[in-house]
Amino acid sequence: MESLEELRRQIDQCDKELADAFCRRMAVVEKVAACKRGGGLPVFDPVREETVLEAVGTKYDSEYRSELQDFFASIMRISRGYQSRQLFPYHIVLIGFMGTGKTSVGKMLSDWLHRPFVDLDEMIETEEGRSIGDIFAADGEDEFRRLEHEAIRRHTGGRYAVLSCGGGAVLRLDNVELLQASGRLVLLEATPDTVKERVHGGEERPVLHGGNDVEDIRRLMEMRKRAYHNAADTAVQTDDRSVEEVAEEIVDRLLEMGSAAESSKEQST
Ligand code: S3P
Repeated sequence: MESLEELRRQIDQCDKELADAFCRRMAVVEKVAACKRGGGLPVFDPVREETVLEAVGTKYDSEYRSELQDFFASIMRISRGYQSRQLFPYHIVLIGFMGTGKTSVGKMLSDWLHRPFVDLDEMIETEEGRSIGDIFAADGEDEFRRLEHEAIRRHTGGRYAVLSCGGGAVLRLDNVELLQASGRLVLLEATPDTVKERVHGGEERPVLHGGNDVEDIRRLMEMRKRAYHNAADTAVQTDDRSVEEVAEEIVDRLLEMGSAAESSKEQST
């Protein structure tokens, strides 16, 4: 029987081959990212990923088939994360009124682009150990806004993420400055009727007091409209659209913005 030492030597050799192959693969992934940037193609191509996994499953008739598929699924996630950092080297910041879908869209983007999802409201609740409703009730809105500013300051300093901001976050200019300095701001929009449908009856949004009155929503939205648009790099409509459709449009917009910035840079040199 081979000694443990000899077996470990064989494992080290396999790891070296895997690492070499992985680095070669990543170098190709980098070229793919450049092609995608040029052609405005999606970072996440589920059909292509399915095809790769199927090929691995059928081509290698191995007892490790399911482990092999897990292994490739993980490699593809890592590649996506890498491409996403190349294509979008900044935080993707979702802003907009309550009920515009920041959380659901943000989670989908975070999955596609394999980067962390940070819901700032949730961060505040976790760090404080109480709900936003409780913070408003016990300490008032000013205290919540102070905590929100602190959360933005902390998380804009972290690794590239999808940041979902509370609906009132960009009403403060110092928040906007922090977010713009480290990210691209995508405004999600919806009509007051859609917002009402989405937030109706929820207790967790103290500024809407239950969200039952569409006129209240309209008024508050109008008051905030200018601040939202001033802060945003781009705006996406979410009425009657699936989370996936909205997320796809955001990726397209960010790709467009990248190439617009590059071509204006090229023109100026
Ligand atoms: C607020 C929106 C909420 C939350 C807080 C205040 C606002 O976030 O931050 O209740 O002023 O619009 P969502 O937009 O994620 O609901």
